[in-house]
Amino acid sequence: MIRTENLCKSYRWHTRQEVRAIHDISLHIPKNSFAVLNGPSGSGKTTLLNIIGTLDRPTTGKVFIYGEEVTLFSDIALARLRREKIGFIFQDFHLMPRLASWENVSYPLIPLGIGFKERYERAKFLLETMELGDRLNHTPEELSGGQQQRVAIARAMINNPEIIIADEPTSNIDDETSAHILKFLNELKARGVTILVASHDASFKKLSDVTFKMKNGGIEWL
Ligand SMILES: Nc1ncnc2c1ncn2[C@@H]1O[C@H](COP(=O)(O)OP(=O)(O)OP(=O)(O)O)[C@@H](O)[C@H]1O
Ligand SMILES: [Mg+2]
Repeated sequence: MIRTENLCKSYRWHTRQEVRAIHDISLHIPKNSFAVLNGPSGSGKTTLLNIIGTLDRPTTGKVFIYGEEVTLFSDIALARLRREKIGFIFQDFHLMPRLASWENVSYPLIPLGIGFKERYERAKFLLETMELGDRLNHTPEELSGGQQQRVAIARAMINNPEIIIADEPTSNIDDETSAHILKFLNELKARGVTILVASHDASFKKLSDVTFKMKNGGIEWL
């Protein structure tokens, strides 16, 4: 389903110092599995998620999704792949500040040509499952961190993605809401979605089919 071959990503800092964010990562995430990425801060989790999710390109190495080498795709083809198949939950939410919750959630449906009424109904349904039915018209600054996180989760679900990539989806929220999100992700898995989560949260271990432990930009094989 998702496979990487010898992924490396280096960042140049002021063209002098080179930071090796990840190096030589080869892994396989089977279809419909719940994969968890653990590891300390700075170990490369976000970098790896962004590359697997095709938001960023590796310096060297390959990413395969459904057997296709997506690292060879054009930016336009990648945008299409993301729009149709992948849902993202970002570490820092990436919500649009001037848009209401429901507009943030339904925004990815606009390029798919879906009309206003259906966009609103689908966003409303997802926000209700996230227990935000009374916050449809609030903008991000009018919401708490945990509520923004839940808006971001609802947005990731809006295109019925086959793959969900979540970067620390429970880092800003209380235990009860996090249990709710875990349950929700598990239900998605039951519906056939493949899930890749980066998290320190130990409760993900119970749900995971496969855990990758990252350290200094590499995978630690146990
Ligand atoms: N745009 C960038 N430019 C330069 N260095 C970067 C950039 N993004 C990440 N890095 C470096 O790459 C390394 C990995 O960062 P990354 O954000 O992937 O870690 P992480 O495991 O997600 O950490 P955290 O748990 O704190 O979110 C870090 O050393 C970081 O400083
Ligand atoms: Mg990170």
